[in-house]
Formats: sequence, C-alpha cells, structure tokens
Amino acid sequence: MKARGAVIHGIGEKWSVEDMELDEPKEGEVLIKVMATGLCHSDEHLRTGDLGQPLPLVGGHEGAGIVEAVGPNVTRVKVGDHVSTYYLPACGTCRWCASGMQFICDNGKDMFEGMMLDGTPRFHLSDGRGIGAMQRLGTFSNWLVAPEMECQKIDDDIPFEYACLMSCGLPTGWGSAVNAGGVQPGDVSIIMGAGGVGSGAVQGAAQAGARVVIAVDPVEFKRAKALESFGATHAFATIEEAMPFVHEQTNGQGADQTIMTMGRMELDDMQKAFDSVRKMGTVVVTTIGVNEGPIPINPLDLTIFCKQLRGAIFGLSNPTKDIPRLLADYKAGRLNLQDMVTTTYSIDDINLAYDDMYAGKNIRGVILHEH
Ligand SMILES: NC(=O)c1ccc[n+]([C@@H]2O[C@H](COP(=O)([O-])OP(=O)(O)OC[C@H]3O[C@@H](n4cnc5c(N)ncnc54)[C@H](O)[C@@H]3O)[C@@H](O)[C@H]2O)c1
Ligand SMILES: [Zn+2]
Ligand SMILES: [Zn+2]
Repeated sequence: MKARGAVIHGIGEKWSVEDMELDEPKEGEVLIKVMATGLCHSDEHLRTGDLGQPLPLVGGHEGAGIVEAVGPNVTRVKVGDHVSTYYLPACGTCRWCASGMQFICDNGKDMFEGMMLDGTPRFHLSDGRGIGAMQRLGTFSNWLVAPEMECQKIDDDIPFEYACLMSCGLPTGWGSAVNAGGVQPGDVSIIMGAGGVGSGAVQGAAQAGARVVIAVDPVEFKRAKALESFGATHAFATIEEAMPFVHEQTNGQGADQTIMTMGRMELDDMQKAFDSVRKMGTVVVTTIGVNEGPIPINPLDLTIFCKQLRGAIFGLSNPTKDIPRLLADYKAGRLNLQDMVTTTYSIDDINLAYDDMYAGKNIRGVILHEH
C-alpha cells in the first residue's frame, strides 16, 4: 500500500516528505494508521548524526493511531484498537521484561538499525529500495507496520494528539524523575531542560512530592510553562543561577536529584549536574548528545560523596504497565498533557516544526497526519 512520510537521507540534510510503498504486516506485526506524532528531539539527533544510525530512515517514534490490520499470531491488539506506539519492544518474557525492566527488553537489540525483528524493512522508497524506520516505527509516516510488542492499547476517548506523548515524552520524563531519580516527598529536584521530556520530568517530580521543583531552561516561555502548567516551584535560566537558591534550600548540601533533559548534552553540562547534587544524590542522564568523547566528572567526588550517576531510557518505565497508568492519571486530571502540545502541524511542515523546536517556541510540536 501507499504511505507518505518524512525520511532522512543523510546527516545534516532536511526531512524529505515522500510517497513510499509499505508492505503488509508479517507475523507478530500490525498495520497502524498513524493519527498523530510528537516531534521528539531524538528524531533530530538522527538527522544531525548524534545517534549514529544508518540512513536513510523514516523518522518518528512518538506516535498514536489505530490498528487497521494484523499479521499472523498477533494477540495483544486487534483491528480498531487505538494504540500508543512506544519505541522499545516489550516482549514480556525475556530476563529483563520478566524482572520488571521492559525498557531494556532483549528485543531492543539492533533496534537502531530500524529493521523489523526479522531483519527486513517494510518501507520502500519510490526506487524500490527497502529502508528502516526510527525504532522500528516511523511515525512520521501516515501509515506504518510495527511489531505488536511496540503497541499499547489505549482508551478510545483519549485525543490522539495527547496520546502520542505517552509513546515517549511523558513517560520518559516522568520516569526519569520518579523511577530513575527516585524523587521522594520533601526533595529538592532540579530538571535541566523543560521541553517535551523535561515537562514530563517536572510533573513527575511534583507528583512524587518534591518540596522544591526547579526547572532550568534558557527559554523564558519554557520556564513560564513549567511554573504555570507542570508543577515547578521555581525556574532559572541556567544551572549556575539556580545553585545559590538550591544551596539556600538545602543547608548548602545540593539537590537530591538533577534530571538532565536538555535538548543536547554538551561536555561541561555533566560536571555541572554532578556538582549540583548532594552527598548520595543522583544525576539522571536522559538527554542525548556528546559524541565528542568521555564525559568528565570528578572521580573523587563520585567516591567520597557516594554520588550516583544514572542513565535512563524511557524513564525506566514499563510501557505495558506505565502507559495505561499514566493515561489514567491524565484522565483524572493529575497529569497535564494538553499544555504540553503547543502547536500542531501538517507533515509537509516538518522542517518548519523542527525550526520552531530549536527556536524554543514549542513544549511539544505534534504532527496530525492526513490519509
Ligand atoms: N533517554 C531517553 O529515553 C530519551 C527519550 C526521549 C528523548 N530523549 C532526549 O532527551 C532530550 C530532551 O528531549 P526533548 O524532546 O524534550 O527536547 P526539547 O528540544 O523539546 O527540549 C529541550 C529543552 O532543553 C532546553 N535546554 C537547552 N540547553 C539547555 C541547558 N544547557 N540547560 C537547560 N536547558 C537547556 C531547551 O531550551 C529546551 O526547552 C533530547 O536529547 C532527546 O534526544 C531521551
Ligand atoms: Zn522520543
Ligand atoms: Zn523482553
């Protein structure tokens, strides 16, 4: 069948919106009519070469849509189901899934190649060449084929433009604070970067009961939204500006946790985050970037202050547990998805939409697909 979507052909090139051919779903796969997709910064890391993935690829991973057909032996979803297309497989039975760590499911192996689990592509360019898709999804296409283990059924009454945030931004941010950062009631938490993912982290820290939730972002609009809509108690343009206040609030000790959710981590950001936390404090590295070399931190501080440095993918969330749970919180008015979606776009405007992201205009830009 025909599909239309945004492809990245080479590092640094613009997104190219193209007509493609899409194969039928094979065993364990589903055909999804993609209704909405968030414009996560990670797809831009694909374009700028930070992720090191093979190109060309169909972009997009933060999707929501409707199951239109299923391949053989699909049991988790059925035709007509509304789904969130999360970007990590969750088989449910490998060692990691069985241990409550779906975010590192063994089926994530080779995921960055963009091919289906059997190693073959479903998308084909107009010249017939088969190409992969971001995290085996490709939500920048209006139709896609995905492994059923990357689809979570959601309630029909959740608007797609908000539901798509459940496939990456919200659980990644929320879990970076709650699961990886271990925010406790009374904590002083710093979130470095209040964009799509960081807004989820701010909400997570607030919901977990942090006494002080500090949003650090150079963009005034992001700071204002963090304060107005997502539960931040204070906001600063830089971590340097935040630190005197953090010390005042913590008897000079430092934050309980600092969550790194800025668009791209530069080399010196790591040491700044590391310096910002107290003894036994935790730095969560959710952001992507720094291909330049090893990240610098003071090893003596690591040892004598027993600091913790923790990487986090998908906020250490379990999609089949956490997506329904977080959506229930949204329905109960306890999570704010609506203020995370600043602007909606057509796929033809994807380059403009990413320009807007860099210009700091959006918490999240969302593409609404046509069919
Ligand atoms: N680990 C994961 O599972 C995962 C998942 C999704 C996204 N990510 C990564 O998380 C990061 C954030 O993604 P996003 O979609 O929210 O990006 P975004 O562009 O929407 O937001 C980034 C925010 O960081 C701010 N910022 C930039 N430099 C800063 C600095 N030095 N200090 C504080 N704030 C700064 C920007 O103004 C912006 O508001 C990206 O690197 C993305 O690739 C990781
Ligand atoms: Zn993402
Ligand atoms: Zn698994």
